[in-house]
Amino acid sequence: MQPLSYYQEIISNYFNTLIVNEEPANLYEPIKYILSLGGKRMRPVLTLMATEVFDADCKKSLAAATAVEVFHNFSLIHDDIMDDAPLRRGNETVHEKWNINTGILSGDAMLILAYQYFEQYEPNIFQELAKLFSKTALEVCEGQQYDVDFETREDVTIPEYLKMIEYKTAVLVGASMKMGAIVAQTSEENKNLIYDFGLNLGIAFQLQDDYLDAFGNPETFGKQVGGDIIENKKTYLYLKAMEFAKPEEKEQLLHLFSIQPNDNTEKINSVKEIFNNTGASQETKNAIEKFTLKAFETLEKMDIKDSKKAVLKAFGEKLMSRNV
Ligand code: IPE
Ligand code: IPE
Ligand code: MG
Ligand code: MG
Ligand code: MG
Repeated sequence: MQPLSYYQEIISNYFNTLIVNEEPANLYEPIKYILSLGGKRMRPVLTLMATEVFDADCKKSLAAATAVEVFHNFSLIHDDIMDDAPLRRGNETVHEKWNINTGILSGDAMLILAYQYFEQYEPNIFQELAKLFSKTALEVCEGQQYDVDFETREDVTIPEYLKMIEYKTAVLVGASMKMGAIVAQTSEENKNLIYDFGLNLGIAFQLQDDYLDAFGNPETFGKQVGGDIIENKKTYLYLKAMEFAKPEEKEQLLHLFSIQPNDNTEKINSVKEIFNNTGASQETKNAIEKFTLKAFETLEKMDIKDSKKAVLKAFGEKLMSRNV
């Protein structure tokens, strides 16, 4: 097993040379644009790492890793339309730079492109990868629908929220790792354990995404800070604030999540103050740690060398301290 930077470099080099069709420009330019903005590329790195965890050459899983990252970028283009987001990775979102129809179609094309990467595998592995991918992609759609449905609901529960983030985010992290394990042709047990590791890491990751959406540094975060508050998203921060709030704070929060002011500055600041005062911010940090530790417990059940566990653990710890 190599250090993290080794896998990151393989992915970065690969995406720098990735060839995307030229014509029609309005279909392919947005694809090149979103991919050129990079991002953390955590999912494809996890795919490569999972392959090496199970003693195969990570280059074998490069096509699967690419599929996962192209799919992720597709989901971001459509997510930004659904969330009315102006910024992605510090730049204009695709639908702002072009228009909504362009975002829809370029996104659709990326979903197909993602599938095409699996064609490079022999039939048995192809089938296993495609099956996992289809299941995962459908779950992501389900999670995204719950996320939107929850915007206009006032009775969302914590278990419902956790299911929603498991589907919209965590299953893809789990699948990214399981794909690496599938390519390595390891045992079913190993495939499922690495999936569980990724799933719990993915839940922690989305909790942190929610936290940063409110409390990230606008200079470095790369997305519109407060976007979830503007969209009345039922995040862990919000649900815990509602649970812990005194009656008058609860009323205030409900009111703030029912208005759509022209200038959102005051709404965002007031909501953040309630998140902090109720202890919801601290509770969210606790939950991030809890799910990361749960992921590490799965690691303990795996029959792999301690040095490999250490690399995966270091990755999880790095995610917990991220600020983008
Ligand atoms: C953003 O994912 C969408 C979520 C699931 C929270 P990332 O935070 O991995 O985005 P990039 O790819 O690094 O920009
Ligand atoms: C996105 O969740 C999940 C998917 C893209 C499937 P968010 O809406 O929280 O992601 P960001 O914050 O826009 O990156
Ligand atoms: Mg979004
Ligand atoms: Mg969203
Ligand atoms: Mg978010």
